[in-house]
Amino acid sequence: MSYAEYRKKILGFIEDHEKWRKSTINMIASENVTSPTVTRAVASGFMHKYAEGWPRARYYQGCKYVDEVELLGVELFTKLFKSDFADLRPISGTNANQAAFFGLTNAGDKAIVLHTSHGGHISHMPFGAAGMRGLEVHTWPFDNEEFNIDVDKAEKMIRELEPKIVVFGGSLFPFPHPVKELAPVAKEVGAYVMYDAAHVLGLIAGGQFQDPLREGADIITASTHKTFPGPQGGVIIYKRFGETEEIARLQWAIFPGVLSNHHLHHMAGKALTAAEMLEYGEAYAKQIVKNAKALAEALAEEGFKVIGEDKGYTESHQVIVDVSDLHEAAGGWAAPLLEEAGIILNKNLLPWDPLEKVEKPSGLRIGVQEVTRVGMKEDEMKEIARFIKRVLIDREDPKKVEKDVFYFRRNYTRVYYSFDYGLPE
Ligand SMILES: Cc1ncc(COP(=O)(O)O)c(C=O)c1O
Repeated sequence: MSYAEYRKKILGFIEDHEKWRKSTINMIASENVTSPTVTRAVASGFMHKYAEGWPRARYYQGCKYVDEVELLGVELFTKLFKSDFADLRPISGTNANQAAFFGLTNAGDKAIVLHTSHGGHISHMPFGAAGMRGLEVHTWPFDNEEFNIDVDKAEKMIRELEPKIVVFGGSLFPFPHPVKELAPVAKEVGAYVMYDAAHVLGLIAGGQFQDPLREGADIITASTHKTFPGPQGGVIIYKRFGETEEIARLQWAIFPGVLSNHHLHHMAGKALTAAEMLEYGEAYAKQIVKNAKALAEALAEEGFKVIGEDKGYTESHQVIVDVSDLHEAAGGWAAPLLEEAGIILNKNLLPWDPLEKVEKPSGLRIGVQEVTRVGMKEDEMKEIARFIKRVLIDREDPKKVEKDVFYFRRNYTRVYYSFDYGLPE
């Protein structure tokens, strides 16, 4: 194959992907779509620039416009999250977590985090960023019934272990974590309270779910592309905590600790997304939660075992379904079958699954943040529940369902809650 043919192939796959995404119902809980404005920023000349360090104190020349954008971005994020400071430099959620662990702890310190099998993220674990930092990682006691951290046992654990840092937040995250209950206990033993808002940053921005900084968290780390509908990236947000040196140490951990240049096109996209969220974030976050609840109810009505019935199913963008009764391979069977029907979502371990079930976990994790952003509301959630039922319960040919999904999906071509298209009707 000639190199020109490689070019053609690669560009072709990109186009195919874009066309396919617009004809499927994407419910991966960690993804979203950017507005035309934000997409423009990410495809801008900022992508060709270097700007190590802080605006107006760079290690690179040629940053005068980049500096202005970054300062506006910091101002917008600080306002949006009512924080004292925001750092837009981390290039991903994991990178933000790395910086937090390096900036706030020393090797050998103890950390308490949510175990991945309870919905925690790999970057919190011994084999992820926390372990790479050399932390002694302990995991929160978890209450399967409540689908949440067990507050009484956790309180005892904090007092016994006296950790240097406690970490809230996770990837499977339907209900707010008990930050206001446990942050004071962590403070008593001198621990930092970190909240990983990778999944729920957009909900927090819109005043839904929970308000970690007011509930006692020192620092929020997050991705900027899940419920916060920006380009892929990370952010660290905090109120003034500790001594000036502690804050300087955190900033030093970000640069030059875990990154050099900070992908300025994405930085600009994050800044613009913060402006979108200040304008439309409340409406967006409210509709996400309404849609998640509507989808959960509709799925339960269609005969699915949806997690959290007695707690209103969910308070976030996520709906969690136990499909272990439907097939021996459970989520390992359901997710690929749904993809054939044009419904894209992930299989997921549930807290009671043994780790060996990772390929055939009991659960499906469904996120409604992207379908909400393209303008769908409660009625559409009922329609989506019916599509899922046709594939998984009625065992209809997924290719037949895919056709109906295609005709349904093509009505949603705009990215709402944006300056480009405003609110959906
Ligand atoms: C809780 C949590 N933290 C961190 C991350 C990592 O984010 P990123 O992919 O931006 O590195 C994720 C990713 O899904 C996550 O769920």
